[in-house]
Amino acid sequence: MFNTILLGLVAYIPALSANSLAVVFGGGKPIDGGLRLGDNRVLGDGKTWRGLIGGTISAGSVGISLYLAAFPFYNLYPNNLVGMFVPFSFSFGAMFGDMSASFIKRRLGRKRGESSPFLDRYDFVVGSFLVGYLVYPSWVVNTYFSGQGLWNLLIILILVPLLHKGVNVIGYKIGVKKEPW
Ligand code: CTP
Ligand code: MG
Repeated sequence: MFNTILLGLVAYIPALSANSLAVVFGGGKPIDGGLRLGDNRVLGDGKTWRGLIGGTISAGSVGISLYLAAFPFYNLYPNNLVGMFVPFSFSFGAMFGDMSASFIKRRLGRKRGESSPFLDRYDFVVGSFLVGYLVYPSWVVNTYFSGQGLWNLLIILILVPLLHKGVNVIGYKIGVKKEPW
């Protein structure tokens, strides 16, 4: 049981790290190309192509590296070709969730960087599980949404606000993030 839980959490690292890595890679052309919907930007200048692509590829690669490191002992992801896309589905899904939250925030009239506590914390969790499920439904359900896998989900839901707070304060202090949330 311990192994199942630990593995599910380690396998989730691409989702947990994608948005932080996007801060590092981000900048340049905004994804919405400057377009507006009504009075506000579709997504805003905080969502860039470099952030999306850099965050997706780097966080997904972290997952593949962990998979290779664990390979002699455990299968962190399913041992087949589609399984190798699972970490990228988590990282892309996390970025997609974050973009969706920005879309909603702009529709609610919140400016770039303004805090929306619930959306900011859980947007990427919803996005990563959604895209992960589309890529490998049986593995995602077994690892996070049924039986002992539910412990993974519970720990993730508890851990996320704490990690989110910690990472954002660090990002703010070292100057890569404009706001401490
Ligand atoms: N970032 C990026 N591209 C992304 C996501 C993030 O370039 N797809 C970078 C941007 O520099 C952004 C920073 O990471 O400012 C922090 O991300 P986030 O807090 O999600 O963006 P905000 O600037 O707060 O914008 P929003 O209000 O839309 O969340
Ligand atoms: Mg923000």
